Amino acid sequence: MLAPAHTPVLVEEAIKALAVQPGGRYIDCTLGGGGHAAAILEHSSPGGQLLGIDADPDAIKVASSRLEAYSGSTLLVNDNFSNLQAICYKHDFVPVHGILFDLGLSSLQLNGSGRGFSFQHRAPLDMRLSPDQELTAADIVNTYSEAELAHLIKTYGEEGYSRRIARRIVQERPFKTTIELAQVIEQVVGRRRHRIHPATKTFQALRITVNQELEHLESALRQAVTLLGFSGRLVVISYHSLEDRIVKQFMQRESKDCICPPGTPNCVCGHAASLRILNKRVITVSFAEFQANPRSRSARLRAAERVITQDEQYQIVERLCSATEVKDNGWRRPILLQKLRQVFLAS
Ligand SMILES: C[S@@+](CC[C@H](N)C(=O)[O-])C[C@H]1O[C@@H](n2cnc3c(N)ncnc32)[C@H](O)[C@@H]1O
Repeated sequence: MLAPAHTPVLVEEAIKALAVQPGGRYIDCTLGGGGHAAAILEHSSPGGQLLGIDADPDAIKVASSRLEAYSGSTLLVNDNFSNLQAICYKHDFVPVHGILFDLGLSSLQLNGSGRGFSFQHRAPLDMRLSPDQELTAADIVNTYSEAELAHLIKTYGEEGYSRRIARRIVQERPFKTTIELAQVIEQVVGRRRHRIHPATKTFQALRITVNQELEHLESALRQAVTLLGFSGRLVVISYHSLEDRIVKQFMQRESKDCICPPGTPNCVCGHAASLRILNKRVITVSFAEFQANPRSRSARLRAAERVITQDEQYQIVERLCSATEVKDNGWRRPILLQKLRQVFLAS
């Protein structure tokens, strides 16, 4: 079932952070309802190109109808972003000017998918982004041991009552629907005024486990860096602290020339910075956006720019020199490098 539209979050901020330019080439790794993608295409016109990816086939359907006007400049792929590099090479979509991740779920999935992402709608305990995945939320709650359940609810839900919830799940199972599970959790945790629903954290933990969200994010971030042209932008919007921590730590690590443990007398890691962090402080939604779209309240945007490492500079100049048969005259190299950079970002 295709449901009500998703309101994209931090759109202006994302477009600015991506430095979207006419003729640019961009990847939206989390296409959803196509809101960010439409804004990217609008700002990169004329000549812009967009590769949109989503693991959910329903999202691809919704976005392709929304982006119909740009069908000549878009390529939509139904796949997991953990396959980002392979997708880009398959479609010859490298290098790119910017890559966006707007993590989590869309309103389409929460409200109308019937796949059990929300404890507010009765549905089977499924929670798979793609029907091709095997493990469902029902498999987890109905077959995992009490210790395994407690561990995942604590780790991925950051839930203080994880052990008690796990014990009750094991006592009360099997569960078929979201509402049955949410009611049992509510009995364990209790409902306190002005707080999130007692099942929020457990549902988050189940969804993260079913879709291996954190592993896929880590892998996709590493791949994204290799696909960016020089000065290309990586922009990530996350919605909970586990995702945000991964993004923050990834950007911090990739912006350092040395990642040896503190106190190491001489660098032995050989690491070179591939990113420059653009916003030291995380970008959050304005009060006006929060009022218009309360679901945006936890959004946190981080952005970084691809920098060229000295090794890469050297290799590129070497390759260019041999390709153009220019002799190894040191004074010509900076000019060549600048030309190459222009070509790279204009391609
Ligand atoms: C918050 S929504 C994106 C909304 C979108 N930016 C818009 O403007 O409509 C997140 C989307 O990312 C997709 N998604 C989440 N994890 C994914 C993954 N590992 N691979 C591919 N798509 C994923 C979800 O299916 C969902 O459609």
